[in-house]
Amino acid sequence: MSLKSKPEWKNLQDLSIKFKETHLKTLFQNDPSRFGQFSLRHEDFFLDYSKNLVDKEVFAELLKLAESCDLKSAISDMFNAKRINHTEGRAVLHTALRHPNEGTLLFEGDNVYEQVHEVLDSMSKFSKKIRNGDLQGQSGKNITDVVNIGIGGSDLGPKMVYEGLLHYLNGPKVHFVSNVDGTHITETLKHLDPNTTLFLVASKTFTTQETMTNAASARQWLVQALNEDAVAYHFAAMSTNVEAVTQFGISKDRIFPFWDFVGGRYSLWSAIGLPLMLAFGPDRFHELLSGAHSMDNHFKLTEFSQNLPVIMALIGIWNNNFLDADSHALLPYDQYLHRFAAHFQQVDMESNGKSVDNQGNFIDYQTGPIIWGEPGTNGQHAFYQLIHQGTKFIPSDFIGFKSSLNDISDHHPKLMANFFAQTEALAFGLSTDKVVSQLKEQNLSSEEIDRLKHHKTFAGNKVSNTLLIDRLTPHSLGALIALYEHKVYVQGVIWNINPFDQWGVELGKKLAKTILEEMNTKDFSKHDSSTQGLLNEFIN
Ligand code: F6P
Repeated sequence: MSLKSKPEWKNLQDLSIKFKETHLKTLFQNDPSRFGQFSLRHEDFFLDYSKNLVDKEVFAELLKLAESCDLKSAISDMFNAKRINHTEGRAVLHTALRHPNEGTLLFEGDNVYEQVHEVLDSMSKFSKKIRNGDLQGQSGKNITDVVNIGIGGSDLGPKMVYEGLLHYLNGPKVHFVSNVDGTHITETLKHLDPNTTLFLVASKTFTTQETMTNAASARQWLVQALNEDAVAYHFAAMSTNVEAVTQFGISKDRIFPFWDFVGGRYSLWSAIGLPLMLAFGPDRFHELLSGAHSMDNHFKLTEFSQNLPVIMALIGIWNNNFLDADSHALLPYDQYLHRFAAHFQQVDMESNGKSVDNQGNFIDYQTGPIIWGEPGTNGQHAFYQLIHQGTKFIPSDFIGFKSSLNDISDHHPKLMANFFAQTEALAFGLSTDKVVSQLKEQNLSSEEIDRLKHHKTFAGNKVSNTLLIDRLTPHSLGALIALYEHKVYVQGVIWNINPFDQWGVELGKKLAKTILEEMNTKDFSKHDSSTQGLLNEFIN
């Protein structure tokens, strides 16, 4: 049965008519127990989703929708190595990357947990040796700087976590180079000493144009400064394509493999996390994994009505498919998480930016929203104006921590006062009546009041989730990332799409290859007039 013809979908559509005309203010006035009903605690996470346009009936219907889409089996299929990425014929096992080395998960005849821990152990040995100086650069100096060369999932995830855990840094500094724009690598290398720099080439496929180009330039920089033999001391790689890495000249003991069942955007838990292990040490990396694993267990074992990723996914579906929101803002109130939205732009939009269902048909309902965001309070002084008073309906997630890692003066109470104030202002606004009485108190003339009153009115009714977490630690960050990964999966299941392929990135790559070749022959005649015109303008 197609999604739109399910009775649960139809019921939600009917309910949405009323909720498009309902104000959050009314929902709160009518039900004093609302906060208790629409909030829950799981370990050190507290989720308040009461500031959404839902009531018991809507929530119950959303839960039924999840059941009717066989979410339970879909979850178990993922954990149990079914080839749910059916357009690429692959299993999806990022959850196995953070599973302890206990028990067995068989895939293609191997125990995945054992495979995973073998690589984790070799990453750990390598990291320890680099960190304590047992492994040094060619000239006998300790490694002080690591350059991670990768893009997409081989960059965004590790970079976000690196920035997220900077408080815990006690190893070499990591620099991330992703863009094929020569500026990125040039500006990074400018400040580095080849004698003390280790390059990590991070690429699942080891064919990605940007990464291969940057890796070649890094190699050239090193060889020019030192010599050809230095490559063996100053390079390592993380990839599923061990053959290609060997051809690049990186020795076997410096190749950290992973597998096809790890999607690029879900790979920070694999060997792709090596820069994190080098920076923070193996123990911290294992804490990150254990945080994610505890969220995996919560997701797998908890009934849907109490399940954080499921609830956040369902609220997202309600806003996206029934209340017509087309974007979703991620607003962490923690400077360390300033790359959080950037990482989840890939995780969410590359996963659920699809318009063909699992049966191969074009679909006639909305799928993944546009994901964006910046940390608070910076965003408040930039784009919040539009969320508060613009014409778009933008649901948001506010993510904050009870205690600060840098508890100086009164910074944290000020940060968190803003955090709570914003969701209140978004939900409840400020009525024109109140604006008028405030302006009267300021002794403004009635003409002035009439002129200003609507400009100063806040309609409110802007929905948000609030996630309040005890403290930003490797464990809680691991759990937070896993929470969002699972949210994206649940939504993909309900939309009946494959969240694990990314065919949409291929066409541009192919055309760029052709154009690059044509730049030599200067023959662009196969292109449309706009592209031809632009290319001629570029080369002349
Ligand atoms: O172009 C998109 C993509 O394939 C992502 O899915 C992936 O994370 C990124 O490129 C990098 O790929 P790789 O790790 O194979 O270099």
